[in-house]
Amino acid sequence: MTVETREKLYEGKAKIVYETNQPGRIIQYFKDDATAFNALKKGTILGKGVINNRMSAVLFEVLERAGVPTHYLETLSDREMLCRRLDIIKIETIVRNVVAGSLAKRTGLEEGTPIKQPIVELYYKSDPLGDPMLNDDHVRMMRLATPAELSWMKKTALRVNTVLKPHLTRRGILLVDFKLEFGRQGRKLYLGDEISPDTCRLWDSRSKERLDKDRFRRDMGGVEEAYAEVYRRLVPAST
Ligand code: TMP
Repeated sequence: MTVETREKLYEGKAKIVYETNQPGRIIQYFKDDATAFNALKKGTILGKGVINNRMSAVLFEVLERAGVPTHYLETLSDREMLCRRLDIIKIETIVRNVVAGSLAKRTGLEEGTPIKQPIVELYYKSDPLGDPMLNDDHVRMMRLATPAELSWMKKTALRVNTVLKPHLTRRGILLVDFKLEFGRQGRKLYLGDEISPDTCRLWDSRSKERLDKDRFRRDMGGVEEAYAEVYRRLVPAST
């Protein structure tokens, strides 16, 4: 059955989600819109949607091959990806290998300080509250996920790190940190959302040049060039 786009289900800051004619399947449409600081800062990164769509697909395929269940099913066009429809768990799971961003602010440690054992952090996915940090007890109190689900999410987030870190290292990229979202379909959990320079900190392994959305957040310039460079290193030319 060919996939047809139906009603818009949800429009976020960087993506639109559409219902399809196939039950349990949605389409993610990737926009060029970029926001930062809970949408206080708004802009456009030309071509970002195409890059994030393709790069997420490539990395979801790498993860599936390594046994991580993801919502990714098929690439439909430059900006559209067919996915399983998930009931998204309102937790942002962050994994960190190197001190950067809010961890540098919270600890006073210098950006770039290596972290021996990767750190997992949880944030409440809530725009009105500005995504505050949570611990396991808060997750239990708010019933955002069951203890079994949370334990699976943390284990899977570390597994994603174990798979992606060497994959990126081989392509000259240091995986500093990244954000994941998970969701349920029936009784099963899947990795959802996207994996892109919007949701990861990616530094050139040698020069430590920022090749991610921090260039936009921090007005560093060369934003489109950085996204294009990551794309060049990660996405095989034939796909
Ligand atoms: P942070 O250092 O600002 O907490 O960000 C950690 C990682 O999470 C970084 O790779 C960027 C990503 N991230 C998102 O994907 N969405 C967000 O809203 C924020 C604040 C960070």
